[in-house]
Amino acid sequence: MGRIRLDALSRSFGSSIAVDRVGLEVADGEFLALLGPSGCGKTTLLRMIAGLLPPSSGRILLDDEDITHTPPRRRDLAMVFQSYALYPHLTVAGNIAFPLRVRRMSKQAARARVLDVARQLEIDTLLARRPKELSGGQRQRVALGRALVREPSAFLMDEPLSNLDAKLRTATRIELAALHRRLGSTFVYVTHDQVEAMTMATRIALLDAGRLEQVGTPSEVYDTPASAFVASFLGAPPMNLLPGRLASTPAGMLRVEAQGTVAPLWPGRVPARDVLLGIRPEHLTPVSREAGEEAVRIRAVVDAVENLGSEEVALCLAGTGVTAQRVALRGPRPLGLRPGDPVTLTAATAHLHLFDAASGRRLEWRDHSAPADKRALSTA
Ligand SMILES: Nc1ncnc2c1ncn2[C@@H]1O[C@H](COP(=O)(O)OP(=O)(O)OP(=O)(O)O)[C@@H](O)[C@H]1O
Ligand SMILES: [Mg+2]
Repeated sequence: MGRIRLDALSRSFGSSIAVDRVGLEVADGEFLALLGPSGCGKTTLLRMIAGLLPPSSGRILLDDEDITHTPPRRRDLAMVFQSYALYPHLTVAGNIAFPLRVRRMSKQAARARVLDVARQLEIDTLLARRPKELSGGQRQRVALGRALVREPSAFLMDEPLSNLDAKLRTATRIELAALHRRLGSTFVYVTHDQVEAMTMATRIALLDAGRLEQVGTPSEVYDTPASAFVASFLGAPPMNLLPGRLASTPAGMLRVEAQGTVAPLWPGRVPARDVLLGIRPEHLTPVSREAGEEAVRIRAVVDAVENLGSEEVALCLAGTGVTAQRVALRGPRPLGLRPGDPVTLTAATAHLHLFDAASGRRLEWRDHSAPADKRALSTA
C-alpha cells in the first residue's frame, strides 16, 4: 500500500513561506505529478514527504500512519533525485544493490533481486560498468533501479528526466509511465514540465507560490482550469486572458465585453463585474475559415508566425496603444497568415472561460439543468 495524505503541510524558511498549508490525498497506485513554476515549493514539499526536511506545521500520513516525525529510512518511500547521486566507485550492480546491503540482505538474494530489477529497466547488460561509463539515460535508469530494489510503498521523484536530452526524455517518459502501470505503486513526481505531467500523471497537483491551486486529472486541469494561474500555466502557448467586463443585458442575457468584442453568453443576470475572458489558442479561428457558432470576434494584426511543423502559431496584437494585447492562435499549418496582416479571430461560446479579475478564480456556470433565469454564476 502507498496511500499518502498531507494535512495542512507548511514549511517556512525564515520569514518566507515555501509551502503553504497544502492538503492533498494521493491514492494507492496513483501517479501524481506536482507541477508548477520554478520556486513554487515542489522540491520542498517532496523533501518533507521523504523525511529529509521537517515541516513547520501540518501532518504527513502514509497508509493512515502519521509519519510526520519518522526518520527517512523508516518511511518505506524511495526518492529519485534530479542529480542521480550514484556512487562513482561502485559498479551498476553495486549501486543498485546498495539499499539491500544496508538492509543486510544475503549476497545471493541481493544478486537475484538486482538482476530482476536490471532486466525490468533493460540495463542488465551494463551491471559491471561504473557510472562514468554510462550515458545520461542509463545513469537515470540505474538511479531508478536503486529505488526499485527496495520495493517501497511509494516512489518520490524530483525532476528525474531533466538532465536528459529531448529525445531521450520522450523515450524515458513512455518507459516511466509503463513502469508505473507494471508496478502499480504510488508515484509522486515533481516536474515543471507540463508535457511530462499531462502525459504521465493520473492526476496533476498545481502549485503556485507554495499554495495548491488545483488538483485534477490532466483533462480536468486543462479543460476547466480553476484559476487564471492554472489557465496561463498549461498549454503552449497558454490560454489567452483578456481583461473584460461581464454584465447582463436588459433582456436577461449575460454578455462579456473584452478587447473590442461583445460576446453574448447565456441567459442570466449578474451584477456587473470585471473578469478575464479566457480563450485557448487552438479555439481561435481566423474569420475567413468556416467558423461554427462564433461568439467572439477580435480584431487584431498578425505580429509573428511560428512554424511548429504540423501546426502554426500566430502571435497577434489586438487593440492599440496601452490597451493593446497579445493574442495567440494555434492551428493546422499553413494558417495562411503573414506578419502585418489584419485578422479577425473568432471563438465559439462553448470555448470561453471566465475568471474573476480580482481573485483569478474560475467563474463557473452552475446547474445547467435549471431554468435559464434560475442559473447562477458562481466562483468555483
Ligand atoms: N534551504 C532553503 N533555505 C532557504 N530557502 C529555501 C531553501 N530551500 C528552498 N527555499 C526557497 O523555498 C522556495 C521553494 O523552493 P523549492 O526548491 O521547493 O522550489 P521548486 O518548486 O522545487 O523550484 P524548481 O522548479 O526551481 O526546482 C523558493 O523560494 C526557495 O528559494
Ligand atoms: Mg525543485
